[in-house]
Amino acid sequence: MNFKNLYETIFKRKSVRKLDLTPLDDATLNKIAGSISELEPMYKDIKVEMKIIPQKEISNLFTIKAPHYIIVSSENKDGYLTNAGFMLQQMDLLLSSMGIGCCWLGMAKPAKEIVSGSQLDFVIALAFGMPLEPLHRQGISDFKRKPISKISNCNEDNKMIASALLAPSGVNSQPWYFEVKENEIHAYCVKSNIIKAVIFEKLNKIDMGVAICHIWVTSKYFGKDVNFIFDIEAQNNSPKGYYYIATIKNI
Ligand SMILES: Cc1cc2nc3c(=O)[nH]c(=O)nc-3n(C[C@H](O)[C@H](O)[C@H](O)COP(=O)(O)O)c2cc1C
Repeated sequence: MNFKNLYETIFKRKSVRKLDLTPLDDATLNKIAGSISELEPMYKDIKVEMKIIPQKEISNLFTIKAPHYIIVSSENKDGYLTNAGFMLQQMDLLLSSMGIGCCWLGMAKPAKEIVSGSQLDFVIALAFGMPLEPLHRQGISDFKRKPISKISNCNEDNKMIASALLAPSGVNSQPWYFEVKENEIHAYCVKSNIIKAVIFEKLNKIDMGVAICHIWVTSKYFGKDVNFIFDIEAQNNSPKGYYYIATIKNI
């Protein structure tokens, strides 16, 4: 994985919703399919499957039209939504770095035959194709994001959090809070009320994986490795209105 490419893409990527419906050529599609097998999970013990499917195999007509979609299915166990978000964001960055437009689809569903053909739960999809609108932002000021003080106890000098700040999220809700300690970062997710939770609980957990992916790419780019651990004390000390997701620990 080329972490320099991925890291640089964090600062210019955007969701691309206008896509050329012409299928990508076989060589490009094969390259993308090959990259899927190189994606790294947050949790190695969760079985994940990613498949590239054409438009006719996506059942929601109101979704973004694209020549191709990556659909993610996963074993349903603790942390699986965050793990799926973590893995698919690697593809979002990779596609954008290759000049290909993409957009996450929180509501799309693959056709019944595809879902019933898998032992795993369908989680989320990513539409992709050649862009018919600008692929990249000109600079950080083009991102609509919360100020860093709302998402962390640290300031812009922290490269990990500066990159998490720019992560995409469902309806741009940016549900994360990162508590930075000397050698670790505790990741928390905003609690939803009962009504909002119906839609947002799933999306928010995926979003958390997306932002944690940016932190991971950043640490890899700066030559540091991290582990994802569960820290009971961090869980017991969750900030008010947030629940604990994971701790990103420098190793
Ligand atoms: C988990 C997830 C689900 C999303 N679902 C949709 C969707 O269903 N339709 C859509 O147009 N955009 C969707 N998006 C894209 C967000 O709206 C977008 O990332 C956010 O507004 C920030 O904009 P940006 O990606 O251009 O930086 C989703 C993003 C994420 C991470």
